[in-house]
Amino acid sequence: MAAGVVFLVGFLQIEVMNKNIFSIICFCMILITGCAQSASRKVVNEQVPEAKEDLIVIGFSQVGAESDWRKENSESMRSTFTRDKGYELIFEDAQQKQQNQITAIRTFIQREVDYIVLAPVTEDGWDTVLGEAKDAGIPVIIVDRMVNVDDDSLFTCWVGSDFKLESRKACAWLKSYLERQHMDPGDVNIVDIQGTIGSSAQIGRTTGLRDAVIENGWRLLDAVPGEYTQAKGREAAARMLEKYDNINVVYCENDNEAFGAIEALEAAGKKAGGNIRGGEVLVMSFDGVSRQALENLRNGSISCIGECNPLHGPRVKKIIENLEAGQTPDKYEYVEEDVFSGYERITEVTVDGTSYPVKIMGK
Ligand code: AHR
Repeated sequence: MAAGVVFLVGFLQIEVMNKNIFSIICFCMILITGCAQSASRKVVNEQVPEAKEDLIVIGFSQVGAESDWRKENSESMRSTFTRDKGYELIFEDAQQKQQNQITAIRTFIQREVDYIVLAPVTEDGWDTVLGEAKDAGIPVIIVDRMVNVDDDSLFTCWVGSDFKLESRKACAWLKSYLERQHMDPGDVNIVDIQGTIGSSAQIGRTTGLRDAVIENGWRLLDAVPGEYTQAKGREAAARMLEKYDNINVVYCENDNEAFGAIEALEAAGKKAGGNIRGGEVLVMSFDGVSRQALENLRNGSISCIGECNPLHGPRVKKIIENLEAGQTPDKYEYVEEDVFSGYERITEVTVDGTSYPVKIMGK
């Protein structure tokens, strides 16, 4: 009997101990499972993007950062397409290479952006990649320079400058100025520092000058690419100053090239200015966006600038708003632009019967 009681007590103790062990095991398992669950929840949370903001995603392929104009243009896009205004801007700088732009567009297509905005470096060579964007159903807005494609349904619309008109207005200013200086057209010896060859800005500005040279009987001594940069502008001007000793007009296809040309003139012992008869070399250019350009107009080292307006961000935004509202924007939208000069006596220029005011930058 006593032995039976001892056995029973022993059995119950083991039983109680087992239960405790069982309870401990259960508790540990719950703990482990709980931890594991919360760990796996964490991983899942990290993989799933946060509640999707309702942003319009724009892939923007920018040419590069070659000039003051381009920097202003990039800033205009960046400050327009911000998250607080409902946009996500994917900005790709192509460093002046078309291949980089083509790669960027393909990446935008893969990422299924809502819109592609392209500032093309040159006009040709876009048919294939724009065809891919069209097949993917992504609207393409071309900005600043144009594309030259067989089928214009490959892009939704374009907004930018009339580069040839800019040139024609600047050349009308030059004609008027030279007449006031009583210059014989045959004594006007011009060199052209061109922009990026094959870009709309270069094509329009080079063509505008060539037409004016023929029309007015001026002499175009040479045309050399300056790629829209100050360094290349200086190099190009220096080379031409070595080659020709009779240059009296340097036509630069943007302001940065003009800054370089002025440096080259100074290095060659010449002065940039409007007193051609007194031996100065007249410098003219395009853009008019930087403080330095304004300062050069005021001090006379640049005589005339054909404005090129870089503030395309709000224009592209308006186009996107129209498209979002189901409207069809104009296929081509030209920006209105002025002519700037520090010379007070020419207050307007006329092209094809239309008069355009010249904005005088006071001393
Ligand atoms: O396409 C616009 C031109 O490109 C600007 O005149 C020039 O400065 C820029 O780099």
